[in-house]
Amino acid sequence: MIDRQTVDRILDAANIVEVVSDFVTLKRAGANLKGLCPFHDDRTPSFMVSPAKNICKCFACGKGGTPVHFIMEHEQLTYPDALRYLAKKYHIEIKEREQTDEEKAEQGERESMFVVNEWANEWFQQQLNDTVDGRAVGLAYFRQRGFRDDLIRKFQLGFCPDKYDAQWQAGKAAGYNEEFLLKTGLCIRNEQGKTYDRFRNRVIFPIHTISGKVVGFGGRVLDSRTKGVQVKYQNSPESVIYSKKRELYGLFFAKKEIVKQDLCYLVEGYTDVMAMHQQGVENVVASSGTALTHEQIRAIHRFTENIVVIYDGDAAGIKASQRGIDMLLAEGMSVKLLLLPDGDDPDSFARKHTATEYQEYLRDHQVDFIRFKTDLLLAEAQGDPIKLSRLVNNIVESLAVIPDEITRTFYIKETSQMLSLEERIITSAVAKVRKKMREEWQKEKEKEKEGTPSSLPLKGEGGHQLTAGGESVISDDTKDSENPSYVDPSTITQIQTAPSSSPSSSSLLLPTERLLIQQIVRHGEKVMCNVEDEQGQEQPLTVVEFIRYSLDEDGLQLQSPLHRQILEEALQNFRSEGFRCDRYFENHPDLAIADLANELGHDPEALSKIHEKGMPVKPEEERLVELLPHLMSDYKLAIVEEQLRTIMQQMRDPAILSDKERCTELMRRYQEIKNIQSEIGRQRGDRVIG
Ligand code: CTP
Ligand code: MN
Repeated sequence: MIDRQTVDRILDAANIVEVVSDFVTLKRAGANLKGLCPFHDDRTPSFMVSPAKNICKCFACGKGGTPVHFIMEHEQLTYPDALRYLAKKYHIEIKEREQTDEEKAEQGERESMFVVNEWANEWFQQQLNDTVDGRAVGLAYFRQRGFRDDLIRKFQLGFCPDKYDAQWQAGKAAGYNEEFLLKTGLCIRNEQGKTYDRFRNRVIFPIHTISGKVVGFGGRVLDSRTKGVQVKYQNSPESVIYSKKRELYGLFFAKKEIVKQDLCYLVEGYTDVMAMHQQGVENVVASSGTALTHEQIRAIHRFTENIVVIYDGDAAGIKASQRGIDMLLAEGMSVKLLLLPDGDDPDSFARKHTATEYQEYLRDHQVDFIRFKTDLLLAEAQGDPIKLSRLVNNIVESLAVIPDEITRTFYIKETSQMLSLEERIITSAVAKVRKKMREEWQKEKEKEKEGTPSSLPLKGEGGHQLTAGGESVISDDTKDSENPSYVDPSTITQIQTAPSSSPSSSSLLLPTERLLIQQIVRHGEKVMCNVEDEQGQEQPLTVVEFIRYSLDEDGLQLQSPLHRQILEEALQNFRSEGFRCDRYFENHPDLAIADLANELGHDPEALSKIHEKGMPVKPEEERLVELLPHLMSDYKLAIVEEQLRTIMQQMRDPAILSDKERCTELMRRYQEIKNIQSEIGRQRGDRVIG
């Protein structure tokens, strides 16, 4: 539990630009900043950050919010954990009470697994650095491979001793739950019920998320002579916190430099990343030996558009990775290739060269991918017409996936020159492929539609459920007509707040109710005036109390459940020291409330429009005492009108018309409400005049 004051301090400290910038590269755009949305497959910057409002929002997928919401969404954290994250970032101390065993058990599975991994990471490092075996075997191995001690520390490399269950025992002794030692895959239980360490007798590479949390480990076998007998790398198994497809090894250590250089090197393995850092090249990530995935590409694309794929030199390897490269092109990335000589990999190459030589080599040997591919295939075809035509088709496939038309045209020109073919031949071949892709994409979409019942496009579901690469490839052509994900936030609020029982559409009730809620969100805890209590003592009256009393006076209840909740929570909290409704609701854990609050809190026009005339333009806060009674009578009038309309409707019903008693009763009600209506009107007139 974090106490209210600390929560407020965290919310006040958290700066949206700083928080978002840890994950997204932002560029100035007028008063705001923008970047590629981290929540959907974004190719043009749709993610806006408003320093003035301290919020962010994606105009395509709708995700975003205050700093705390951004962190919840981005890091997949609960509200309290997102607050803890921000507290850590802003060096705000949280005094938390000791958790009971029960609470510990209740802590989310994910969180527990992170905790266990964090412990394991420490333990592995300790084994490497502070034990005889660790130093003699593990550390010696790293050093013999040429890794410097500062790099070993930086990458938090570790060691798991050659014992059956050393980690299992240590974990249990340190009080960690057996369940999570197993779920993280650190330990394995066999069919006989015996438990042993997955990583025993291996050196350890921890795998960090983009924000530096340890999601898994890679363990390399020590003895190279066992190659082929034992699997070289044991990795943590897939789990709720670790997915090999999602992570990119080294991104956490590389992201700053990627932004700075506006370039990312892609290599294959853990040791390649290490070796490049050691040579002073820090903007490097590894796909960990698997084919690049869409998610990994997106992770890189958030930091840069430029990628250089480093290969350890054979044509076969390059061909095998073509699909990954086509995916990069399809993402709108500019892709270059770099071949290392003599079958070297980045690690072995590093050992043969100085840092300067290494960096110069990288700089001078990057080749544009399309050009590279054309060269390679040309050499291979050696004038054979059949091979040549296959080659052209192959290149056309790569060209077709490039989303940007100008880039595509440029490449078409260039390849046609290299192939000595007329440009229009390639252009039309590319167009054909694109048309086919578009048709396939359409078909897929239709299939999807048939499969799923039509539903409201609720916020957060970005509409981009990408399968392989296909559909994303052509979305630039179809964006305008297809862009399914733009949902006007106010529509959402209306959908969510509409009371299910009220079918009338022309009603002014909800919009008027919203204006009251807006006052709670903006000024709820503020004193609007003093009133005399029963003993004749002057007492301050806050906005939220005024609204509550005025509603109670006429036995009224707010229509929308969301509005009711806001009123209730404001009433529960307004007396607490330092409590502010705006901060509280805008950062509310319930996103429906937070969204509404943000919208209401930052919409300046609603009130000025209504009350500008004849009133001096004072800040809203100073006009509360005039404003609120006015809004309240508007609201009551709206209710009255609604009731009158219902009665009128009933009176038109033939069944009721023929029932004389019902009719008289309805007429009486009608008159009663009419009286109330003019009474409210009169009071309000008094106020305006007097
Ligand atoms: N890999 C893996 N499992 C394996 C082999 C490889 O997960 N059995 C992944 C690892 O992430 C590894 C990467 O693929 O880092 C590249 O493989 P490789 O080049 O064989 O390993 P290196 O990292 O280069 O390791 P070393 O130089 O020690 O052989
Ligand atoms: Mn290697």
